[in-house]
Amino acid sequence: MSSIGAQGGRKPEDPAEAAAAGALVNGAAIESLGRMLESVPAPLFALDRNRQVVAANVAAGKLFGGTITGRNLLAFLRHPPLVDAVEACEAGRSTEPVALPESQGRSGQRRLVARLQAIRPPMASASVMVLIEDTTAAERALTLRRDFVANVSHELKTPIAALLGFIETLMGPARDDPLARQRFLGIMRGEAERMNRLVSELLSLSRIEMNEHQPPAGRADLGNILKTVRDSLTLKVEQRQLNLVFPGLAELPTIPGDPDELTQAIQNLVDNAIKYSPDRGEVRVGYQRIEDPIACREKLQGIRSPKAMIALSVSDQGEGIAKEHIPRLTERFYRVDAARSRELGGTGLGLAIVKHIVNRHRGSLDIDSEPGKGSTFTLFLPVEA
Ligand SMILES: Nc1ncnc2c1ncn2[C@@H]1O[C@H](COP(=O)(O)OP(=O)(O)OP(=O)(O)O)[C@@H](O)[C@H]1O
Ligand SMILES: [Mg+2]
Repeated sequence: MSSIGAQGGRKPEDPAEAAAAGALVNGAAIESLGRMLESVPAPLFALDRNRQVVAANVAAGKLFGGTITGRNLLAFLRHPPLVDAVEACEAGRSTEPVALPESQGRSGQRRLVARLQAIRPPMASASVMVLIEDTTAAERALTLRRDFVANVSHELKTPIAALLGFIETLMGPARDDPLARQRFLGIMRGEAERMNRLVSELLSLSRIEMNEHQPPAGRADLGNILKTVRDSLTLKVEQRQLNLVFPGLAELPTIPGDPDELTQAIQNLVDNAIKYSPDRGEVRVGYQRIEDPIACREKLQGIRSPKAMIALSVSDQGEGIAKEHIPRLTERFYRVDAARSRELGGTGLGLAIVKHIVNRHRGSLDIDSEPGKGSTFTLFLPVEA
């Protein structure tokens, strides 16, 4: 906010005339102050020397649940550090933004900050402007970014430390031990492969996120996609002696979508089902076309009046997932048992990638699970663009 000037003009001689002119000028000044406040979308109000609100914009009224013009600051925002800051601002001392007590917003705790600006000379008796800024989203983004960097560093540090350890051993004590060399090189390859997978999954995630606002323009043949997924997992399925059940591929439709991304999403789900299944367990991929308008609206939130959708489910008879973990599974790096997932070669990014792919396709992902019985992951995707 920049400094705001007062009204000027000729001085009337008669006291009555002077008072009338003064009121008129004051009214006009309040009006122009009000117009100025209204041009700012964030909550904004002006206080006089008695902490009384001279004018406020609509956003401020909304924030404090009604008209605040004419009210005292303490009546609607009792926060001593803010009062101190207002005093400091009036006295010409510069003030830092003041964090307000956390309040409850529509989607959880909300963080608000008040920024003050002196009005010099005062305008319609208003001497301090107070702008309220909602910093919730900015702070959340900052925390997410910090956590993300910490997670990536942590995930990379583990394999790097292992590689360095084995290199030291191979250069030192195990230099002339061909058996140890063979074994350590095998472990080193595993660690390097994990880093490679982590980096390609991170790149994949960032690419999908970058395009998320732009729905895919192509068409995806679900029969072809499921065939690709099945072929790529044959070896794992045989090794674990699993019974992998697929729907008849010929009956599957072609839907709007990016074939590579949908392959990646379904592959991730089937891969998890295999990973978390007991040997000789059953992994079942199911398909259904749903035309119920209420269900379609609920599952395809990015589409105005969806007429039909497909539900593609992947069920396993594995250990299942406890309820409290389910809402967090699609967060990056979130794993129920991190050590176990790492042991199975996982990075904890698979379901985060699935979620972003589904978002881009204006669909959704449902997770149903019963500990000890198994899990079902269902993708809902629109049949029409
Ligand atoms: N079918 C499932 N059964 C039981 N737990 C599951 C299943 N699918 C996912 N999970 C749990 O969700 C977590 C996150 O899954 P996600 O696919 O994101 O990561 P990951 O499989 O560990 O690693 P990545 O997929 O990156 O290789 C897993 O670590 C596991 O704890
Ligand atoms: Mg996975």
